[in-house]
Amino acid sequence: MKSDELFALLRRRGVLWPTAEIYGGAQGLYDYGPLGASLKRQVEEAWVAWFVGLSHDYYRLDPAEILPEAVVRASGHLENFTDPEVSCETCHAAFRAETVLEKIRPEGVDGLVSAQIAEILLANHARCPNCGSTALSVPRPFNLMFGLDFGVTGKERAYLRPETAQSSYLAFPRMWDVGRHALPLGVAVVGKAYRNEIAPRQVLFRMRAFTQAELQIFFDPAGFPVPFARVREEPLPVLRVPRRESGEESPEWVTAADLVASGGLPEFYVYHLVHCYRFFRDVLGYPADRLRLFEKSDRERAFYNRLQFDIEGRLESLGGFKELGAVHYRGEYDLSRHGEGSGKDLSVTLTDGRSVRPHVLELTFGVDRNVWALADLLLGVEGERTLWRLPAYLAPVSVGVFPLIPKAHAAYALRLADELAAANIAVRYDDGGTIGKRYARMDEAGTPFCVTVDAETLAEGEKKDTVTLRERDSRAQTRVAVGELVSRIRTATCLPRPPRY
Ligand code: GAP
Repeated sequence: MKSDELFALLRRRGVLWPTAEIYGGAQGLYDYGPLGASLKRQVEEAWVAWFVGLSHDYYRLDPAEILPEAVVRASGHLENFTDPEVSCETCHAAFRAETVLEKIRPEGVDGLVSAQIAEILLANHARCPNCGSTALSVPRPFNLMFGLDFGVTGKERAYLRPETAQSSYLAFPRMWDVGRHALPLGVAVVGKAYRNEIAPRQVLFRMRAFTQAELQIFFDPAGFPVPFARVREEPLPVLRVPRRESGEESPEWVTAADLVASGGLPEFYVYHLVHCYRFFRDVLGYPADRLRLFEKSDRERAFYNRLQFDIEGRLESLGGFKELGAVHYRGEYDLSRHGEGSGKDLSVTLTDGRSVRPHVLELTFGVDRNVWALADLLLGVEGERTLWRLPAYLAPVSVGVFPLIPKAHAAYALRLADELAAANIAVRYDDGGTIGKRYARMDEAGTPFCVTVDAETLAEGEKKDTVTLRERDSRAQTRVAVGELVSRIRTATCLPRPPRY
C-alpha cells in the first residue's frame, strides 16, 4: 500500500492520527488511538521479553525524560547532535540537506562538512523542494535537541532527552550496586525520545517525539563470552561497506560464523546482531526477504560508534529499505565522557581484582517505526478481505466475542467476554451487523480469534457451553468448550522468550 493509503486506513481504524488534528495537526507528532496504543504496548512488551530476557543481570528502568545540560554536554550531543539544514532564500522553507539532495545523492550526506555539501548543491544546481528555486543557503548545522528553561529563574538549561540511552549511562554506578557486581550488566529503557527534526515526514518515521526501546550492555573489554555455537549457522542478509561501494543495494546471505571468520567482526557483536535479526523475523514476523543488515562506514556512523549495522526493512509504503533498529558498539565512549563530565570515576572492580571501565554494546529499536512496519509488511488486501497478519501475541485484541443473534445470545456472550477479560485476555464484544461484517472488522484489526455464541451454546445437549472458534488466517472454524478458551488463547498469545546466555 502507498503511504497515504496506509495512513488513511490506520486513521480510520483508530490506530493513530495527527496530534491536534482539529487544529490542522502538529508536524512530527502523532497520537495512538485504542488499537494503536495496545499494539504499541504489545510490541514494547515483546521487546522487553526478548532483550531484557537475555540475562538475569539485565534490568529495565523508568528514568526522567529531562536531562540537565551538563549531561548532554558530556555526551557530545550539544556539540555533535546536528543535521545539516538548508534554507531557501526565495520561499524561506527549511530542509535537511539530505532531503534536497535525495535524488542527486541517494547515499546521503553523513560525514560531510557544510562546505562539501554546499559544493554538491551548487555543482548539481539543486533546487528547493518547495518552490524550485536554486537560491539555497550554505548548509548550517542545526542542533536537534529541544532545550528547556528549567525552574523558575529560567537560568538553568535542560534538554528533553534525544535518546533513552543517556539515562542508562547515568544509572550505571547505581545499577552496579543494585546488581550483582558482575559484568555483563544490561540496562534497558523503553520510553520517549525527542528530536526537533528539521523536516518531519513519512508519518511515524521521522517524528519529533517518539518511543525508543534501547538496551545498553556494559561488558568487560577483555572479553564478552557468548554462546556463539547457538547462532553460528544462521544465514544473515548482510550488506557490508565494500559491497555497497561497488554499487550493490541487495544484501548477500552470509552465515554468522563467516561474519566472524572472514568478516573480521567480534563474536559478541555478531551474536547480538543475530539476536536482533531474529527479533524482527521470528518475533515481529517480518518476511526474511524484506530485511537487510546494513553496515555503516567510518564516515557514516554516529559519532559515538565503533561498529554499526542498521537493521532495515523494505517497506512498500516508503519506497525502499528503512532503518528500524541497530546494533551499536559504542566502546568506552559513554562511560569515559560521563566520567570526565561528572568528575566521578565510572570504572568498577571485578572479582579478579581488575579495575575496568566497561564498554557498551547498544541494541536500539524504534517502537513507532516498527508499528508502521508491522502495518506495511503484514496488513493488506487479500481477495475480498483486508487482513492484518499480526502474530497473535502482538494483536491489540486477542479475541472477538459475538452473539450470533444479539437478542437471543447477547447475555451469554457478554458474560463470556467478561470472564475472558477477567482472565487478562484482551477481548472485544461486538454485536453490530452481520457476522461477516464483524469478522471483517476483526480481520482488519489483526484479531487472531473470534468466538460466536449461538443457539447450541445455550440449548441443553451435547453442544451446551460450546462456541464456534474462528481462526483469523485460515478462517477455520472449530467447536470448542467454553472452559477451554482461556488456555487456548493464552497459549497462542504467549510472548516468545529467548534462551538466556
Ligand atoms: N541510542 C542510539 C540512537 O538513538 P538512532 O539511530 O539515532 O540511535 C535509534 O535512533 C532508533 O530510533 C532508530 O533505529 C529508529 O528506529 C528510531 N528513531 C530515530 N529517530 C527517529 C525519529 N525521528 N522518529 C521515529 N523514530 C526514530
